[in-house]
Amino acid sequence: MANPRTKDDGAPPVHIAIIMDGNGRWAAAKGLPRAAGHRQGAEAVRATVKECISLGIRYLTLFAFSSENWKRPATEVDTLMSLLRLYIRQEIKELNRSGVRVRFIGAREALADDIIRLVEHAESTTRQNDRLTLTIALNYGSRAEIVRGVQDLAAKVKAGDLEPAAIDETMLASHLASADLPDPDLIIRTSGEQRLSNFLLWQSAYSELLFLDTFWPDFDQAALGDAVRIFAGRERRFGARG
Ligand code: IPE
Ligand code: IPE
Ligand code: MG
Repeated sequence: MANPRTKDDGAPPVHIAIIMDGNGRWAAAKGLPRAAGHRQGAEAVRATVKECISLGIRYLTLFAFSSENWKRPATEVDTLMSLLRLYIRQEIKELNRSGVRVRFIGAREALADDIIRLVEHAESTTRQNDRLTLTIALNYGSRAEIVRGVQDLAAKVKAGDLEPAAIDETMLASHLASADLPDPDLIIRTSGEQRLSNFLLWQSAYSELLFLDTFWPDFDQAALGDAVRIFAGRERRFGARG
């Protein structure tokens, strides 16, 4: 789903995506193990989801684990996966009560079986909700997502069901995991790093980017409110004249 807006209208973002970075450095600065940073990061997720509901944000996409994060020591990967299990188990009822639709993007087949079951259960339980769509990017990599979409299209061409010339931007976008999400209006990255790290590369073509020095565990309601205000002050031109 492409962003239907053609120019900045001062409206709040419809879709906010966040690269939740800096858990490890937050912990190190406090002399704590990295796991403590990840635990506190989960608290920041709770607060952010709640505030998005209050602000009337319709789509929130969170980068929880990248396809490259498997390169980390197994103990840290285990900690992250355990926190994810805990988060889904503890939050799903409340998210459902609050009208949140939960979805996951990323290569889920590589996840542990019990996590796949939790992910599927979360999605099916909340399928009817539409107040806020919370998309969790888990084992997600944007290039892999695009390759998958291209493979699907190539298979249709090979089967004789699709002419190469009929492939356009809308068609490729509809073969991505994000097919039913509007493009993010605002992408926030915490922790001072200024890169996308393989997150929503196709979808971010005209996203406003906001890089904050705050470590993710310190991100709170006030920080989200500030981000939305900064977004409202940006002029989006989409290639047209201001
Ligand atoms: C973000 O925090 C969590 C994940 C990437 C899973 P980091 O763990 O990357 O924290 P830093 O960047 O090392 O501080
Ligand atoms: C990006 O953070 C991935 C997530 C936030 C889940 P990283 O900490 O993995 O990114 P790099 O390695 O610094 O680019
Ligand atoms: Mg990091």
